[in-house]
Parts: sequence; structure tokens; C-alpha cells
Amino acid sequence: MTPAADPPQSQFAELAELAGGFIHEFKNHLSTVGLNLQLLAEDFGTAETHRERRALERVQRLQHECDRLVEVSNDFLRFARIRDLDLRPTCLRSVIEELVDFFAPSARQANVTLTTYLPADLPLVSLDADLFKQALLNLMLNAEQAMPQGGELIVQACADNGGVRLDLIDTGLGMTADQAAQVFRPFFTTKPGGTGLGLATTRRIAEAHGGTIEVESDPGRGTKFTVRLPGAE
Ligand SMILES: Nc1ncnc2c1ncn2[C@@H]1O[C@H](COP(=O)(O)OP(=O)(O)OP(=O)(O)O)[C@@H](O)[C@H]1O
Ligand SMILES: [Mg+2]
Repeated sequence: MTPAADPPQSQFAELAELAGGFIHEFKNHLSTVGLNLQLLAEDFGTAETHRERRALERVQRLQHECDRLVEVSNDFLRFARIRDLDLRPTCLRSVIEELVDFFAPSARQANVTLTTYLPADLPLVSLDADLFKQALLNLMLNAEQAMPQGGELIVQACADNGGVRLDLIDTGLGMTADQAAQVFRPFFTTKPGGTGLGLATTRRIAEAHGGTIEVESDPGRGTKFTVRLPGAE
């Protein structure tokens, strides 16, 4: 099957609005379900008979499923609701440094050596810093998850055509050409607990900034994601 082409922007916006509204409504009901399950679990908290213990187990399984649905819904809302950007001329270097500081403890724990090459004289980019950090964090988390035994993650930036080019290079599991061709598609995932919206969201964020994202990967050796952002006017 050939992958479907992306719908034009206006169609996407309309669909995203509709789906976002639906998910929002869905989450309201889900929170009522979650609350009632919590009350039920408390009722069975002092389960004595075999039957009661089994009922408690089932309630807890449903609670777990309910939490998962909330998580998927939040991922979806983050993906669908990328619209009004708060763009300001920004020094990408300080944005990345802040994020790297935030991510460093997690990298250390995962045995990942985090190295940055961030020149001081990068051109300013027109950025919604909070949104862009979300995009970068998705890339860093994926890199960490691709290195279950630890490894190296390099984050490097350089001036590129009046804008900035950013590379994230990991020494992880890598992926086949077939996988690499699909990674930006919503819901594509190879992880048991994954939603598959991380990279779709990252790509939408890069594109909402007038930028691009590409991937190159070598199975067993590692992966490089390249983000390009145009310079601030
Ligand atoms: N750095 C990487 N190295 C190897 N494979 C990767 C890397 N980044 C992404 N992938 C592949 O791309 C898939 C999609 O990534 P994406 O971030 O969109 O979803 P996910 O990580 O599976 O789930 P989540 O929604 O929790 O982020 C991953 O499941 C993995 O197979
Ligand atoms: Mg991910």
C-alpha cells in the first residue's frame, strides 16, 4: 500500500479542530469513568473473599486502561492543536541549553553521554520556544529509548542558508529504510507502550516554524535527525 499524501493545511486544520473537539469531549467522560473506578477500587480496598479480590483486580486493570486512554488523548491533543504560534526572534543556543539541562539527569540515568556543539554566533530564528522545546524533547526521548544499553547523543547546530541547521545524532539501534520512511506518520510506532505521535508532532512543529525535518538511519549503528529552521526576518 502506498502511503497517503498529507492533506493540505486548511483541510488539516479543519480535521484537527473536529478531532480535537471530539477528544476533549471524550476526555470529560473518561474522567468521570476514572473517578468512579477509583471509588470502586476504594470500596474493594479491603477485599476479603476470592470474588472480591478478583473484582478488585479487574477494577485496577480498567483503571490502568483508563489512564492509558487519557495519555493517548493528551498526546493527540498536543499533535492536533499546533496552531497559533507565539513567534519571537530567539537564540536557539540558549533554548537548547535549557532543554539539555532539563534532560541531563534522565540521560545520565540511562547511561547516555550527551554532547553539544552550539556555536555562539548562530543566526536568530523566529521561534515559539516552548513549542519547539516539546519537539526537541520528543527527539531526545526517542534517542534515549533507542539506546537501552546507553550510548552517545550529540546535539549540534550550525548556520545554514541564513537560518539554523540542527542535528541530533545517536548511537542507538537505528532502523531500516522501510521504518525510516514511516516514522513521521501519526501512530507509527514499534514500541509496546508507544503512541506513535512523538515524531508526527515534532514534524508539525518544525513545519509550523517554516522549517523541515529529515531522518537518516543505519540499523545497528544509529540515527540522525536534522531540523532546519529559517532565520528570523
Ligand atoms: N532515534 C531513533 N532511533 C531508532 N528508532 C527511532 C528513533 N526515533 C524514532 N524511532 C522509531 O520511530 C517510531 C516513531 O517514533 P515516535 O516518537 O513518533 O513514537 P514512539 O516513540 O514510538 O511513541 P511516543 O508517542 O511515545 O513518542 C518509534 O517507535 C521508533 O521505531
Ligand atoms: Mg517517541
